[in-house]
Amino acid sequence: MFNMVVFGPPGCGKGTQSKKIVEDFGFLHMSSGDLIRKEIRKNTAMGQFLEKFISRGLLVPDSIILKEIFRYWLQHLNAKGMVFDGFPRNLYQAQMMDKVFNKRKLGIELVISIEAPEDELIRRVIERGKDSGRTDDNAEVMHNRLLIYQSQTRPVIDYYKKNKRLFTVDGQNPIKEVYAEIKSLISEKHH
Ligand code: AP5
Ligand code: MG
Repeated sequence: MFNMVVFGPPGCGKGTQSKKIVEDFGFLHMSSGDLIRKEIRKNTAMGQFLEKFISRGLLVPDSIILKEIFRYWLQHLNAKGMVFDGFPRNLYQAQMMDKVFNKRKLGIELVISIEAPEDELIRRVIERGKDSGRTDDNAEVMHNRLLIYQSQTRPVIDYYKKNKRLFTVDGQNPIKEVYAEIKSLISEKHH
């Protein structure tokens, strides 16, 4: 099973690129944000609890997200591969992921970090907010999302750099070009 992470700030293109990867390589897509939004749409007590975090641009508690992610992963160990989009989002999540995967003699083989300048990220998210229905797609919440990314999520890059699993792509390029670069990185690692 080929496990990989698509990493980067809000609006960098994680979801867009992950969809292309799963189509091409037959992997499964695990988006932690989509998982949370699905629960919110069900309007459960848990959904209402999670909405308080997401609508402010804050990370939801680790225990909740870890439980759901690992449950899904353990149910799909026979998949060709899995693309993690938006997870891990802090150092603790990254460490727990390695711990759980290593127990099964598996690991994260590739981490792709998509980079783009903040003004471009803000422009994209505000544009998408016109019809996404996402309560966090507006200038105010995006400001918080970027602060959280810088303080809690970005440090995960150094964690992955240490064991040479990290590759960076320029997310300012057109979607197709970004994908071409990602595709060749996966092809090098996945046979
Ligand atoms: P999440 O759903 O993960 O959102 P995000 O990281 O803020 O990022 P987005 O989904 O907004 O952007 P993206 O990088 O996927 O870009 P996209 O492809 O859509 O998380 C939301 C919230 O959930 C978090 O704030 C937190 O509250 C919670 N959460 C999630 N995971 C968690 C975790 N692990 N732990 C705790 N809490 C968690 O593209 C954006 C736009 O740009 C689109 O319109 C797209 O068409 C366009 N675009 C994409 N690429 C390009 C390009 N190359 N050129 C031009 N336009 C482009
Ligand atoms: Mg996304």
